Amino acid sequence: MRLRNDPKAKKELFNSPYLIKNFPYKISKNTIIELGMGKGKMITQFALLNPNKKYLGIEKYATVAHKAMKKANKNKLNNFYIICQDIKNINNLIRGKTKIIWLTFPDPWPKKKHAKRRLTHINFINLYKNILLKNGLIKIKTDNDKFFNWTLKHLKENNIKIQNITKNFHNSIYSKENIMTDYENKWFLKNKKINYLEIKF
Ligand SMILES: C[S@@+](CC[C@H](N)C(=O)[O-])C[C@H]1O[C@@H](n2cnc3c(N)ncnc32)[C@H](O)[C@@H]1O
Repeated sequence: MRLRNDPKAKKELFNSPYLIKNFPYKISKNTIIELGMGKGKMITQFALLNPNKKYLGIEKYATVAHKAMKKANKNKLNNFYIICQDIKNINNLIRGKTKIIWLTFPDPWPKKKHAKRRLTHINFINLYKNILLKNGLIKIKTDNDKFFNWTLKHLKENNIKIQNITKNFHNSIYSKENIMTDYENKWFLKNKKINYLEIKF
């Protein structure tokens, strides 16, 4: 998700208490992370509904992360934080381990030559593993069937344990307490079935 570069948004984000500026940022088992949170629709709602947990959204574009910051401001959240950096550096940005990492509607990078940029590539999964507790979960939602099928095959080839899978998330038990992201909502309105899987370490 890219929005037109907005210097004012960048400045506001930088001056916001929601933005993490000192690294590594210490997390605990109750810090739920969303990778590529975009405008933060899902994670800020989770934060509002679960004041006893902490939520950390990672997004590389400041203009996009600024939208999440505005939602946090509006709801006066005090359990939500933003890291505006590239996920590839996650092991330098975060210290500690969590129980849950969400990866929501990642860019599919459809060209074969870009496979290593896919956020479900084993190189990325290994980075996430370093900040996950034993039995922790990576929860992945995507509209993109080709990306999903590639991910399943790629994870199996790399001996990664897949816990739960559905190609019709909204019709499954896994969506019981679901909150939709912006992309999810867009595809839902077009009747596109959403894919979901959980990786367990
Ligand atoms: C397709 S959008 C989905 C946004 C949101 N998760 C949703 O479902 O509405 C993917 C988001 O991931 C962010 N992103 C992609 N690669 C990233 C990376 N390496 N580090 C941080 N953010 C990334 C993009 O900037 C974009 O906002």
